[in-house]
Amino acid sequence: MQTAIIIGATSGIGRELAVRLAEAGWTVGVAGRREERLSSLAARFPEGVIRTQILDITTPEATDALDALLLKTGAPDLFLHVSGIGKQNPQIDEAVEMQIIETNCSGMVRMVSHFVNYVKRSPVYHEGHTAQIAVVTSVAGTAGLGISAAYSASKKMQSTYISALSQLSRMEGIPVRFTDIRPGFVATEILGAEHHYPFIMPVEKAADCILKGLRRKRRVITFDWKFRLVVGLWHLIPRGLWERMTFIKTQ
Ligand SMILES: NC(=O)c1ccc[n+]([C@@H]2O[C@H](COP(=O)([O-])OP(=O)(O)OC[C@H]3O[C@@H](n4cnc5c(N)ncnc54)[C@H](OP(=O)(O)O)[C@@H]3O)[C@@H](O)[C@H]2O)c1
Repeated sequence: MQTAIIIGATSGIGRELAVRLAEAGWTVGVAGRREERLSSLAARFPEGVIRTQILDITTPEATDALDALLLKTGAPDLFLHVSGIGKQNPQIDEAVEMQIIETNCSGMVRMVSHFVNYVKRSPVYHEGHTAQIAVVTSVAGTAGLGISAAYSASKKMQSTYISALSQLSRMEGIPVRFTDIRPGFVATEILGAEHHYPFIMPVEKAADCILKGLRRKRRVITFDWKFRLVVGLWHLIPRGLWERMTFIKTQ
């Protein structure tokens, strides 16, 4: 029996991963702000399979809520940080920009750093039991997309943060392993219905790619192959040319 914690499991990718792990026999601790979504997820499975916790990663109290969830699940084998928000913001609405940074950057650091410190304190991990920590970032972190500046930057920050923590963990002998999950476009609530997105994939396919990559203990999971190709090309584009690529719109 294995245990996972998923922060951001009330909808979309996090919810699908929770369902898939629970169906595979895992005990899953799930968190998010929407209580009714947490309850309906738990009700799909026999009692005790899904353990729930209301948690808002943008608040300082989120660390207490995470501790409460850890008490309900015990030390997890897998810690998945999926929570995130995103919005196209070509008008540079400052409140929207700040909300994205507070959720995707501060909220993610709050949760992941707290969990790494939990691993450091917890004797169970020092008996040869390694925790896998995975964060859902995005291919958007590869380059700054003009229509989603704060979102792109927040995703780059997430990737850099876990890359740095993976080096620090090795230096300090902390028994954790990190995975950076970089999806292309996935059909979930975050995208909304008002825009058209190229190469969009169903959430079931996204979960397949993530679970396969996690099983293989990949450090970075970029999916699907079309997005691996796109981001490979993005890396090669000089900044002056990138600036002129004003056709990159999703409307
Ligand atoms: N869909 C895509 O095309 C795509 C592509 C690349 C990366 N991603 C990333 O994938 C992750 C999941 O997004 P999704 O596509 O599955 O969209 P989603 O269905 O909107 O899911 C977002 C999740 O984040 C949680 N969340 C948001 N703000 C939160 C907060 N303050 N505290 C706690 N939880 C919070 C939501 O829960 P509550 O609202 O209940 O709190 C929800 O469970 C995000 O990080 C997103 O950036 C998505």
